[in-house]
Amino acid sequence: MADTLTVTDNRTGKSYELPIQDGTIKAMDLRQIKTGPDDFGLMTYDPAFMNTANCRSRITYIDGDKGILLYRGYPIEQLAEHSDYLETAYLILYGELPTDGQLQSWRREITLHTMLHENVKKFMDGFQYDAHPMGILLSTVGALSTVNRDAKNIFDKTTRMRQILRLIAKVPSIAAYAYRHSIGRPYNNPDNDLSFTGNFLNMLFKMTELKYKPHPVLERALDVLFILHADHEQNCSTTTMRTIGSSQADPYSAFAGAAAALYGPLHGGANEAVLRMLTEIGSLNHVPDFIAKVKSGEAGSRLMGFGHRVYKSYDPRAKQIKKIADMVFEVTGKNPLLDIALELERIALQDDYFVKRKLYPNVDFYSGLIYQAMGFPTEMFPVLFAIPRTVGWMAQWEEMLLDPDQKIARPRQIYLGSEARDYVARDQRK
Ligand code: SDX
Repeated sequence: MADTLTVTDNRTGKSYELPIQDGTIKAMDLRQIKTGPDDFGLMTYDPAFMNTANCRSRITYIDGDKGILLYRGYPIEQLAEHSDYLETAYLILYGELPTDGQLQSWRREITLHTMLHENVKKFMDGFQYDAHPMGILLSTVGALSTVNRDAKNIFDKTTRMRQILRLIAKVPSIAAYAYRHSIGRPYNNPDNDLSFTGNFLNMLFKMTELKYKPHPVLERALDVLFILHADHEQNCSTTTMRTIGSSQADPYSAFAGAAAALYGPLHGGANEAVLRMLTEIGSLNHVPDFIAKVKSGEAGSRLMGFGHRVYKSYDPRAKQIKKIADMVFEVTGKNPLLDIALELERIALQDDYFVKRKLYPNVDFYSGLIYQAMGFPTEMFPVLFAIPRTVGWMAQWEEMLLDPDQKIARPRQIYLGSEARDYVARDQRK
């Protein structure tokens, strides 16, 4: 049997043979299907890209039915157990696990880029004390495009890699500054003796002590959470990164757009929305009423942290996060909202409404409980998602830039508006 699709246009009786490659047909192959010479030709209509591949990628593989997630072929469970965030970031960016030497120079490179231009403090001072840190992050990173003027030189590999390093290293520093700004505390300088995640904790939480010492269990827990959030193939924010990048904008501006997409409560803002939902439910005996409200489809009553466009089984990251929760609660004490979360999960996994719709806990369902137990305010949760996802956005952006198939993104539409009509003078309008 040939790898082709035979379609017959019943409007004309004509048949067409379309090649099938990688489980897809090229949308452009449909344009030849016309009813006459003036016909534009067939398009596909796919709002939200439910069934459209917009690229060929070698970075991350997800099997939604089997709950499989691979970064460059390595299972997320093995990376969570054996790797650390910076090594995983190297893997995602370069495609291979680093040798000892490569990892050491990679760590040194990132460490030496964590310092921020003093102007960033001036940007920060412009924000109200209670400005949402995600709004601060995306605006400040966007503003860095005015500082690193060479960033527009996106096709020069050395310059491009310098921006990627700067973003991976500086996004946590900006996030820490945003947090310090919101609590009215002075900014902390990076401590080059600490790990990537240890230094982030230092810039967040160092007070008057001369040298901040991160709690090793919390440092490891946050580092594994960073591994779990590093990339996730063509999600909403990565697609935004690729789309903005396709016009050849600089990576700081593209990052600002991707972070804006992540900020939404249906995407990376869900971890914040989960905590608000658990707090609103308040106690175990309110769970049945809340579930009933969700099932009634009442406006705005979604079970946040549940469901996924791709995973129609348990999100493998959520399984890992539940393990980290136990590790963290050993140190911080159990988050009282955990019992409500576990009860919601217990009911949802057996209730036909959720089972029929294949709604399972996703990466955002338990992460917020850990962040809260570690002392992060709820508004910092999407920022804690954006920090590790920086490397995923950068790797996907660079892959798009270097892909000969890619060009500026510009979808078509189905036009339902008025036919052409003449202008009506103001005194003639009804
Ligand atoms: C992330 O894409 C990625 O990979 C994202 C991410 C990444 O790493 O980048 O994995 C990170 O964003 C995880 C998702 C975080 N978002 C949330 O937890 C918000 C709550 N979840 C939903 O809003 C929803 O499940 C989405 C947005 C995640 C997925 O939405 P889809 O695929 O568009 O599904 P849908 O909205 O069409 O829902 C299908 C049905 C609907 O019911 P019916 O209209 O068929 O009756 O399922 C229902 C929905 O009402 N449904 C839910 C639900 N999610 C879907 N009902 C209650 N609670 C939910 N959470």
